[in-house]
Amino acid sequence: MTYTASESRYESIEYKKCGESGLKLPAVSFGLWHNFGDNADFENMRKMCFTAFDNGITHFDLANNYGPSAGSAELNFGKILNGDMKNYRDEMIVSTKAGYYMWPGPYGEWGSRKYLTASLDQSLKRMGLDYVDIFYHHRPDPNTPLYETMWALADIVRSGKALYIGLSNYDGERMREAARILNELHCPFVINQNRYSIFDRTVEKNGILDAAISEKKGMIIFSPLAQGLLTSRYLMGIPEDSRIKTDGRYLKEQNLTEEVLKKITKLDKIAKNRGQTLAQMALAWVYDHEGITSVLIGASKPEQILENLKMIENHTFTDEELREIDSVVL
Ligand SMILES: NC(=O)c1ccc[n+]([C@@H]2O[C@H](COP(=O)([O-])OP(=O)(O)OC[C@H]3O[C@@H](n4cnc5c(N)ncnc54)[C@H](OP(=O)(O)O)[C@@H]3O)[C@@H](O)[C@H]2O)c1
Repeated sequence: MTYTASESRYESIEYKKCGESGLKLPAVSFGLWHNFGDNADFENMRKMCFTAFDNGITHFDLANNYGPSAGSAELNFGKILNGDMKNYRDEMIVSTKAGYYMWPGPYGEWGSRKYLTASLDQSLKRMGLDYVDIFYHHRPDPNTPLYETMWALADIVRSGKALYIGLSNYDGERMREAARILNELHCPFVINQNRYSIFDRTVEKNGILDAAISEKKGMIIFSPLAQGLLTSRYLMGIPEDSRIKTDGRYLKEQNLTEEVLKKITKLDKIAKNRGQTLAQMALAWVYDHEGITSVLIGASKPEQILENLKMIENHTFTDEELREIDSVVL
């Protein structure tokens, strides 16, 4: 059956500019870190992509290493994009990244010009694309001069293989220096991708949130649900189909301590008082902060995407609600 996107897809979501650039991203973006690998169900992948796009999620986020195996998420997404969704490429923002381990030897990870250039070529091949909309350096490289990494990114844009550049997991100071270099090179660096959630406040402490605001760059937030902890998923035990059970590489059973469970239970009550689910409140909490462009969610089923999108209906907080949330977690 061919896929035709819903005609109402742009009706109920917001789009914000990445800083002062011309690029807009949806309030909720969709990431393919999990559930798009070799062992995942292809039909479910298709349905999740359609559900996202039908509801205005124009942005699909990938990386060279997403799987498992590394590269398989790009392959699977490429199949969906070039099959069912090929008529919609110009309505979509596709991002990928390089920085983590991809192949053996000295050129298979980090931030050299050699690695970044080769990795993006491989990503484009896997996805069957001529270009990505955003290409990210996935993590800072302490052993490569920042200038070399930025110069490679600028040349990638010049080559037409990426339209915009993003930086991921940088702190405020390093991002400011990178922004200065990219500016000199006339390279459209528009967005930062970092982790932020009710549980993880690192971006408030390492300067990146303040730097993104003052440098007028966008900020897209990964793991806003703390990989599923900030949802009702684990309130009644650990379900067989949850990330802890089905994957366990990054979210492990030992992360769900008694203390964490108590916090989740209290947060769930606050969410109920606001008339929303914990997942919706957790996303709204991130999105409501100054400087945030988009919250980047993962999902294992289409229904989760639909639930999460509803955060847009109630994404502001009173000072008292914010204090109450802080008193549970800080
Ligand atoms: N730049 C980086 O270094 C970096 C790092 C990590 C991630 N990312 C990006 O960020 C994206 C999102 O990361 P993430 O997957 O950790 O985000 P997340 O949104 O915090 O967690 C997603 C997981 O939470 C569960 N979930 C989602 N909605 C739910 C709901 N309504 N009710 C119950 N459970 C729900 C699902 O897990 P179940 O399997 O339990 O259903 C889902 O897979 C990734 O796909 C990737 O694109 C980037």
